[in-house]
Amino acid sequence: MKAVKEMSSFDVEKIRKDFPVLSQTVNGKPLRYLDNAASSQVPNLVIERGAEYLKKEHSNVHRGVHYLSQKATTEYEAAREKVRKFINAKEAKECIFVRGCTEGVNLVANAYGRKFINEGDEIILSQMEHHSNIVPWQMIAEERGAKIRVIPMNEAGELIIDEYENMLNERTKMVAVAHISNSLGTINPLKSMIETAHKFGVPVCVDGAQAVPHIRVDVQDLDADFYVFSGHKMFAPTGSGVCYGKREWLEKMDSYQGGGSMIYTVTFEKTTYAPIPEKFEAGTPAIAPSIGLGAAIDYLNSIDLDAAFAHEHELLEYATEKLSKIEGVKLIGTAKEKASVISFTLENVHPHDIGTILDQEGIAIRAGHHCAQPVMQFYDVPATARASLAFYNTKEDVDVLCDSIQKVIDVFA
Ligand code: ALA
Repeated sequence: MKAVKEMSSFDVEKIRKDFPVLSQTVNGKPLRYLDNAASSQVPNLVIERGAEYLKKEHSNVHRGVHYLSQKATTEYEAAREKVRKFINAKEAKECIFVRGCTEGVNLVANAYGRKFINEGDEIILSQMEHHSNIVPWQMIAEERGAKIRVIPMNEAGELIIDEYENMLNERTKMVAVAHISNSLGTINPLKSMIETAHKFGVPVCVDGAQAVPHIRVDVQDLDADFYVFSGHKMFAPTGSGVCYGKREWLEKMDSYQGGGSMIYTVTFEKTTYAPIPEKFEAGTPAIAPSIGLGAAIDYLNSIDLDAAFAHEHELLEYATEKLSKIEGVKLIGTAKEKASVISFTLENVHPHDIGTILDQEGIAIRAGHHCAQPVMQFYDVPATARASLAFYNTKEDVDVLCDSIQKVIDVFA
């Protein structure tokens, strides 16, 4: 009831006008963009801010005394402060700009792992992780002689929390878990999982890529030790992202990449390092994308975000109900707490064929293993078709999707 009431205050048609890409036709049909879990679209405010930066402000940061360099530095650091407020970090310096969520997880896995993970230690991941929150941990586990343990999930795609609690022990050195699964849409009970890990003195690294554009995130309330996300899934350009880390951890960790900007002094004998965040931002950072991420946050702050999220959630419920009534559709991922993502299969139709036929109808979905092969192994499917929503989607998008899925079923009948 609450969602319905909130949705009425949300003018989706007005919002759609902010996203120029949405008003085009694809294959002669109006575009129905339902691949937001892969990359979301970019509003005019972000596009214009990017153009303005490139036309009038482009320069290198933290390096020059000249006007442009100082301007670029001011804007880059202003974007960091916007990120801080958006996720409610205590300090902007705890927000390291990276080029995407994958780079952020690699930063934590390497910088934390080399310092704190040793032979015989354990790293806990979950069955539903994206490859970017598996492979970096496997690599560091191999390097350090540590062991990966995996929190299992049930058929609905929910983590089995009792098993998680039994896994934690004095050898556990990290829990790395998604806030929201990219392939199933499950929202994990992160706050209590973090609380449990902390009882064992274990830090938690959260893959927040699918959460930040869909639910409110407060890293202090969650008490997350690390929280990593990409800009391109939250209405910003590709090449932007954030690795939040608590100061106490970031200060204890050594730099992960070496180069300019991250040093204090360099001689051939010894290098000393800059404080956070610079010590983790080697080389020229992704200046324009990070300023674009700041503009995306400005955009999100300019709309009624709670109403937008409520609208999106209502669409998810509408789509789930409608799709589950189509004979032959099998939903993959039916957790009670879900956001944005609807994965499904059709009997006797490969997901790539579903994606190709839907494309002819102007519908963009993703088909494949979604960089989550262990999820596919769990459900014993090679791939799924995945429709993923953003707040600019409409009931009409969902209706066209469902009608077109029926067409796919008829073609293969
Ligand atoms: N991680 C992105 C997805 O889930 C690419 O589609």
